[in-house]
Amino acid sequence: MFSEPLTIADLKKRAKWRVPKMFYDYADSGAWTESTYRANETDFARINLRQRVLVDMTDRSLETTMIGRKVSMPVALAPTGLCGMQHADGEILAAQAAEEAGVPFTLSTMSVCSIEDVAEHTKEPFWFQLYVMKDRGFVGDLIDRAKAANCGALVLTLDLQILGQRHKDLVNGLSTPPKFTPKHVWQVGTRPFWALEMLQTKRRTFRNIVGHAPASSDLSSLAVWTAEQFDPKLSWADVDWIKERWGGPLILKGVLDAEDAKMAAKTGADAIIVSNHGGRQLDGARSSISVLPEIVDAVQGDIEIHMDGGIRSGQDVLKARALGAKGTYIGRPYLYGLGAMGKKGVTRALDIIRKELDVTMALCGKRDIEEIDREIIAKVGF
Ligand code: FNR
Repeated sequence: MFSEPLTIADLKKRAKWRVPKMFYDYADSGAWTESTYRANETDFARINLRQRVLVDMTDRSLETTMIGRKVSMPVALAPTGLCGMQHADGEILAAQAAEEAGVPFTLSTMSVCSIEDVAEHTKEPFWFQLYVMKDRGFVGDLIDRAKAANCGALVLTLDLQILGQRHKDLVNGLSTPPKFTPKHVWQVGTRPFWALEMLQTKRRTFRNIVGHAPASSDLSSLAVWTAEQFDPKLSWADVDWIKERWGGPLILKGVLDAEDAKMAAKTGADAIIVSNHGGRQLDGARSSISVLPEIVDAVQGDIEIHMDGGIRSGQDVLKARALGAKGTYIGRPYLYGLGAMGKKGVTRALDIIRKELDVTMALCGKRDIEEIDREIIAKVGF
């Protein structure tokens, strides 16, 4: 029915066919009018590359480091909540695919599979993303669990003190409190492969949170508890105590402003991720790629800079690298892969991006990702 997926868009089509609508829409949505969600993607197309010819293009290398960790290309998997609802055991499968591909996987606080589930099924240290909840005892426990699981970095998300509103989730009843209706039964019933796989796993709720919330342990009660738990008072002082409690490599995620980037650099964290949460928080915010150059200029090498938002190809990764991101993250591209084909689909998403990155770099006349800088950019149209 579907031909071999050659692009991330092909994986997206397959995921739509395989995943129940409420969970597919959860991935493929942004806040309010989705203008920032769209801009993240379309602004990449406003950057032109310089084509070079008759330079040696043999023996190319995409290897680099992100916060000192060797990576096979400058791409990591971003933390995504409910990843295990795109496919049964989704976080475990994505982490295994990332490990095989030599890139970091980041597990979300709001994952279905827990820190311990993923640790049990992987060999390499993965990264753990932390949301700061009002219940600081719980936050401390999460940090300790990530340490015990030998996580390689803590990714602290700064841009979700309160939840942005996504219309598709409200329409689908994937809101708080969730409304489970005959429509959902229909949506699941028409996705039999997904449903069968889901029936075969015991991992079907927010397993990092089970046992902490006073509510019962089903997905909807935990979602209600969590939505009330995001801390609107989160401050730079909190970053200091989290850094101290964690004691390992720290990445600050969700910086979109040059002044905030300077503050972040002062915390002594190892990296920041220039990000607007994939257009899921402040609709009307600028795209991540358009903000990246001014943040790079503002911090002037004081802290390593990563970015995410809108990357759908290897060309996009190369453009981000050229504009100063040492590393990038993909969210939806691997979720589509996971929804479409499970672990194989995540591997496919990474393979697609790797191939595109390699060929694009060569056509720009470069053989090593470490040589990439603004010189390969012909024009920036924003
Ligand atoms: C996210 N994102 C996210 N970020 C985070 O820090 N913690 C989380 O739990 C989630 N959850 C989440 C769920 C889904 C379905 C999506 C699509 C995104 C944001 C994510 O880490 C990343 O910033 C964006 O996904 C990057 O944009 P692209 O690659 O999806 O365009």
